[in-house]
Amino acid sequence: MALKGVLRPGICQLRVLDMDAAIKHYVDLMGLSIVDKGADGRVYLKAWDEFDHHSVVLRPATEAGVDLFAFKVDSDASLAEFEKRIRDFGMAVEHIPAGEQPGIGPRISVKLASGHRIDLYHQVERAKEAPEVLNPYIWPKPPRGVGAIRMDHILMYGPDIEKNLEFFTKCLDFSLAEKIELPDGLLAIWLTCSNKAHDIAFVRHPEPGKLHHLAFFLEDWNAIGNAADLMIHTNTPIDIGPTRHGVTRGQTIYFFDPSGNRNEVYAGGYTYYPDDPLRAWDQNELGRGIFYYEKQLNERFLSVVT
Ligand SMILES: [Fe+2]
Repeated sequence: MALKGVLRPGICQLRVLDMDAAIKHYVDLMGLSIVDKGADGRVYLKAWDEFDHHSVVLRPATEAGVDLFAFKVDSDASLAEFEKRIRDFGMAVEHIPAGEQPGIGPRISVKLASGHRIDLYHQVERAKEAPEVLNPYIWPKPPRGVGAIRMDHILMYGPDIEKNLEFFTKCLDFSLAEKIELPDGLLAIWLTCSNKAHDIAFVRHPEPGKLHHLAFFLEDWNAIGNAADLMIHTNTPIDIGPTRHGVTRGQTIYFFDPSGNRNEVYAGGYTYYPDDPLRAWDQNELGRGIFYYEKQLNERFLSVVT
């Protein structure tokens, strides 16, 4: 089917403990640009290949983690239709007025069974420094740091991911691309609304509302290698990588921002189509699914979240 309804991840609002350190990380290392600063201390940033006003919001806080993850939908009519479907599904919907974040129109907001907040919106201003569209160069100016192309996906940890699966597939028309199923039930799900192998993923976890990582897209293995070199040079704490995931086939590094929020740089990954069969992993090959070369999970993957 043509891409319609929910188009893609649009905004992630992260909590950070030290704004100056966070800006240094997300601007100098990740290569994002600041597009606005709010009176409440929030800082709005975007990656160089994004057309919309912003994608990452940093909010000063005393505890790290994620406030919300928002998806852009294709029309106001779709937004109204999704609201109806979510209410019919039995979940409460909150209205967030236009302008609560600069450049963003009205949003609807739901709290998932896993404790996470998901917003949907359609209207958004174009970024002042958007990619060129007439006789474009590959980038308007050379990217900075690791040169994050876009904010790509998020992995969240929380309880009752079965309910999340039902919500995303029934209310928002996402597809389940991959899963890890253990004898005692679902451990992890990778959901897509697009041609990407995943746009959002969840891992079963007793504490609600936790962030495992926010991922930024890079072009290829060379870019991942260059990012690793920069992380060593800047003494950025690396969790694991460069390595590869069996799930999604993406090439990856996990590392931490100065507040302890895990980030990922991610490249590759297969092209997903809605008629693809579900790919599944079980307890026998779970390690290779997460870390393809190491073939085993590290303890941090399952326990360190914000
Ligand atoms: Fe990821």
